[in-house]
Amino acid sequence: MSKKITVLGATGHIGTAIVHTLLKQGHQVTAVARPSARLDALAQAGATTKAGDAHDAPFLTDALRGADAAFLMIPPNVTSPNVLGFMDQIGEATAQAVRASGLKNAVHLSSIGADEAAGTGPVVGLHRQEARLNAIEGLNVVHLRPAYFMENLLANVGMIQHMGIAGSATKADAAFPMVATKDIAAKAAELLAADKLENHAVQYILGPRNYTLAEATTAIGQAIGRPELPYVAFSYEDAKKGMVGAGLSENQADLYDEMTRNINEGKSMANGPRDAASTTPTTVEEFAQTVFAPAFKAATA
Ligand SMILES: NC(=O)c1ccc[n+]([C@@H]2O[C@H](COP(=O)([O-])OP(=O)(O)OC[C@H]3O[C@@H](n4cnc5c(N)ncnc54)[C@H](OP(=O)(O)O)[C@@H]3O)[C@@H](O)[C@H]2O)c1
Repeated sequence: MSKKITVLGATGHIGTAIVHTLLKQGHQVTAVARPSARLDALAQAGATTKAGDAHDAPFLTDALRGADAAFLMIPPNVTSPNVLGFMDQIGEATAQAVRASGLKNAVHLSSIGADEAAGTGPVVGLHRQEARLNAIEGLNVVHLRPAYFMENLLANVGMIQHMGIAGSATKADAAFPMVATKDIAAKAAELLAADKLENHAVQYILGPRNYTLAEATTAIGQAIGRPELPYVAFSYEDAKKGMVGAGLSENQADLYDEMTRNINEGKSMANGPRDAASTTPTTVEEFAQTVFAPAFKAATA
């Protein structure tokens, strides 16, 4: 049966893939993001589009009203001087809009580590958003808790080009789950189209297995024709300088620092509960061949 489904963050990594999947299945999709050519392309593909800002609760209410289900997410804002404050503002506006629109079914993009109230960097904002949405009477909400996105590896493109290395403050031998965003989108689309959502359920999405960044760098090196590409673990201080130099706010760099320490110490961000349902197919080798290598080639051309 065709459903009316609203997708917030519709032009992002995950949102775009959800919109295309649901359109192919014959659903009526409303795609929401700020105005852009990427949003126009979703209209061309058959979605109804609504352009506006996620701080704007009346705008979000209008986008959610009448939907059978919605994909809810808080976008990243790496230049904010107060990242958790930004997440609280958008989280509040979203919760207000869910209440005002009478939305009954939602799939919320949260994160691994969101079970904890502190010590996980930006994921603290998603812990708070899970609680906000769980408190809404009459809303069935499922929280997706994906691991580290393989797409984060694209941040290495410039470093590989200019320095011939991939690197971060994550230890070379720290293994943790990594997932391709297309696998997250597939799970989200499946739930959005489902007849019934299990209220307050949590779904971890962890990729095929845990990887180290040294392993991911080997996969990337092979995919781009540089099999000797080294992974270099930076000091926390040097990594923070690099992030701020690349344009991130001090506050965002501090939050990433906290998250990286959590992974290096084998805490919650490195330890999602792995079972058949949380294990997804795309390997880091496939990601390196199909996503990283073309992006690297385009950036080098
Ligand atoms: N990276 C990770 O490893 C990881 C892991 C687990 C969870 N997460 C969570 O996943 C989320 C990021 O997902 P993603 O990669 O799909 O994000 P993304 O690709 O950056 O997409 C963000 C979407 O939100 C839209 N957007 C941004 N600012 C907006 C605003 N002010 N008002 C309305 N729309 C806005 C963007 O389009 P426009 O900019 O054109 O509006 C875009 O459609 C975050 O909540 C993050 O915490 C990330």
